[in-house]
Amino acid sequence: MSRKKLIVGNWKMNGLLAQVAEVGAIDKVAAAHPGVETGLCLPATLIHPARVSARSIFIGAQDCHMADSGAHTGCLSAAMLKEAGADSCIVGHSERRTDQHESDDDVAAKALAARRNDLNIILCVGESEAQRDAGHAEAVVSDQLLASLPDGAAAQWLSVAYEPIWAIGTGRTPTMEEVTRMHRSLRDALRSRIGDEADAMRILYGGSMNGANAADLLAIADVDGGLVGGASLTAEKFAPIIQAAAASG
Ligand code: 13P
Repeated sequence: MSRKKLIVGNWKMNGLLAQVAEVGAIDKVAAAHPGVETGLCLPATLIHPARVSARSIFIGAQDCHMADSGAHTGCLSAAMLKEAGADSCIVGHSERRTDQHESDDDVAAKALAARRNDLNIILCVGESEAQRDAGHAEAVVSDQLLASLPDGAAAQWLSVAYEPIWAIGTGRTPTMEEVTRMHRSLRDALRSRIGDEADAMRILYGGSMNGANAADLLAIADVDGGLVGGASLTAEKFAPIIQAAAASG
């Protein structure tokens, strides 16, 4: 099954209006590589200006509330993000699972809210270093995926991102063998839940992906793209990753 490569930048809490020019530069790189689906998940304040300036990339949010409206001071609903111009939304990023204590049930409810409001979803999962050292990484992450996956998940609107927590922002990555085993086990977990639909669903790798390691990571059979933090903040750093995805077919 051939799956179109998906490269997504996650800007996290970085970017002011001045950086919308960088979105434009990344958009140009993406336009030159139509064989790759490219997107940027931006701070909510940049979604609308980025949407107005971008032609070739999709624009995503980094989180949404599970309710469509209500008394939730400071939160944003999926409907609001959609109206601002978002096409997609990350749910379950480890930084939110840790900092905001989001549970698997919360993540599944957020994914359903995103879906209700016509946002595509990037669902993040990943193990801690202690869980990997204990030899439980694959079991932990598969369980997390099945507990966070919304009912009726379909490849057309949901992708999975495997992000080992200890690899995020550290410059460290798992070995190619570890990534190969993890992505295969996630595909098997998906198959156990959604059957043949699992073959169409994209499973991204995230955690210190950069221009130097992207080609090797993207060559792994079940790695269908990347979720990129630090190396997505400028076109100069992000372009080699998009190019590596294009070259990997
Ligand atoms: P880095 O690419 O900076 O390690 O971040 C990965 C990540 O958390 C993307 O969501």
